[in-house]
Amino acid sequence: MKLLTIETTCDETAAAVVTDDLDVLGSVVASQDQLHARFGGVVPEIASRAHVERILPVIDTALNRAGVTLSDIDAVAVANSPGLAGSLLVGLAAAKALCVALDVPLVAVDHLHAHIFACRMAAGEDIFPCAGLIVSGGHTSLYRCRTAINFELLGGTIDDAAGEAFDKVAAMLGLGFPGGPAVEKAAAAGDPRAFQFPRSFLRDKDRLQFSFSGLKTAVRYAICPPEAGNPEDVKLTPRQTADLAASFQEAVVDVLVAKSMQALDHTGLDTLAVGGGVAANGALRRRLEAATAERNARLFVPPLSLCTDNAVMGAIAVEMLKAGQTADLSLDVQPGLVRS
Ligand code: KG4
Ligand code: ZN
Repeated sequence: MKLLTIETTCDETAAAVVTDDLDVLGSVVASQDQLHARFGGVVPEIASRAHVERILPVIDTALNRAGVTLSDIDAVAVANSPGLAGSLLVGLAAAKALCVALDVPLVAVDHLHAHIFACRMAAGEDIFPCAGLIVSGGHTSLYRCRTAINFELLGGTIDDAAGEAFDKVAAMLGLGFPGGPAVEKAAAAGDPRAFQFPRSFLRDKDRLQFSFSGLKTAVRYAICPPEAGNPEDVKLTPRQTADLAASFQEAVVDVLVAKSMQALDHTGLDTLAVGGGVAANGALRRRLEAATAERNARLFVPPLSLCTDNAVMGAIAVEMLKAGQTADLSLDVQPGLVRS
C-alpha cells in the first residue's frame, strides 16, 4: 500500500508518499519562513494563503519524487488537529478532494502524535511504549504513548510553548525569525550562568506542567526595565546578547530535561521520544542524552528535518489504517489541542 500524507497545520506545506512498511518514497516540505520573518512570527492569514498556492505543487513534487502517480495512492492522510484553522483547512480540503477523486480512504492525523511518530520513522524500529515530549512553536506537552496510536496527555504548558518563548526572546534580542535557531547560535558564545532566570515547577515532581511566560518576562526585564522603553530598541553588546541567549536557553533546557525525567519516573517507562521544532536544539539534545544515559533509558530524537514540521511523520496513518481508524468526508479541522 502507498499513502499520501499531507501536513499544513502551521506554516510549512508538506506532503509525502509512504508505504505500509513505513518506507518513505518521497517527501517535500515548502517552508514559509521568509514570508513571516518580517512580522517576527507566523501570520495566520498569510500562512493559509501561501498553503493554497503551494499545496498542489507540493503534492505533485512528492508524487514525482516517489516515482508514483495519483492512481498508485491507496489512502490519503492529513493532519487535521491541532494548528491554525485556516492552514488546517487547506490541507483537509485537498485531502478530501483527492479521496473523493481516487475513491480511497481518508485518515485524520493528530499533528502532535505525528511528531512523536517521527521518532519511530527515524529509528526504523519500534519505540513504543514510551514517554513523549513535544516541544514546538505551539505546544509543550508530555505524553504516555502506550502504542503508536494510543496516547495519554500527562500535562502541558499553562501559558507559552517553549518554541514560542524562543521566538519571542529572539525578537527582543533582535535576532530575527524563526527564533529558535537564532537564539541557539547566539547562545553558543554566551555564558549560561550570566543571568539567573526562573525555572517554573522545576522541582515540583508531581506537576508535569510547564510555564514559560515568567521566563520571557524575566528576559525582557533583564534587557531593560519596563519604564525604559521597548527591549527591541535597546542596543545590546554582542556579549550581552550571547549571555542573555545562553542563560535563557539554559533555563528552558533545565526545565524540559527535568520534566522529561519526571515523566519517566511517573510512568515507570524507560524510553523517551522527543518531537517538535525545539528538539532541533543542540543543547537540549545533549542534555537529554546525558540524563537518559544516566538512568539507562533509551532516547529517540529525530534528525533535524524530522523535528520541524514535515509530512513523513504523517506515516502514523499507516498504524491508524491497520487499526481500522479511517475518517469520513464530514471530517472537520480541530484547531485546539485534543485532550487525549
Ligand atoms: O514543530 P515546529 O516546526 O512547528 C510547530 O508545530 O510549532 O516548531 C517550530 C518551533 C519554532 O518556535 C522554532 O523557533 C523552534 O521550533 N525551533 C527551535 C530550534 N529550531 C526550531 N527552538 C530552539 N532551538 C532550535 N534549534
Ligand atoms: Zn509541529
